[in-house]
Amino acid sequence: MNKAARYAEVGQEIAAVIDGECHMIARMATVSNILHHAFDYYFWTGFYLVDPGKAGELVIGPYQGTLGCLRIPFGKGVCGTAAAERRTVIVEDVHAFPGHIACDARSQSEIVAPVFDPQGGLIAVFDVDSAEKGMFNAEDAAGLEAILKASFS
Ligand code: SME
Repeated sequence: MNKAARYAEVGQEIAAVIDGECHMIARMATVSNILHHAFDYYFWTGFYLVDPGKAGELVIGPYQGTLGCLRIPFGKGVCGTAAAERRTVIVEDVHAFPGHIACDARSQSEIVAPVFDPQGGLIAVFDVDSAEKGMFNAEDAAGLEAILKASFS
């Protein structure tokens, strides 16, 4: 099965599980869990939340995988760049990305997508790392953006 078809299938599964659940953390925990187990190249999968109590910082949210860093300033690393620029960032080789934050040295490539509320406000970023280089492309971006939009916007 190709990536686009798999994302569509996983998106349906997520929608079915979170249907009727309005708590954001419950929805995020479900999204990270189902996606993490659906793709074998996902090594770390989860959310960094915009922290209303600390301007300009992201704080760790629901995730799957090895221990993640607790806080990331806006503009720092891949997550901070995606948050500051409100766009999806794909990195083929994290070691070549200026300011990359290495929470786990095994991470080699990464995709980070912004998460918006229904009013268009940034509430989080969704970060997926792979232990192999060059694992993410435009199909991952489109698939993740569609799932995040359906789940939070
Ligand atoms: N690599 C990320 C940090 C988060 S972790 O990998 C879980 C970054 O540079 O934004």
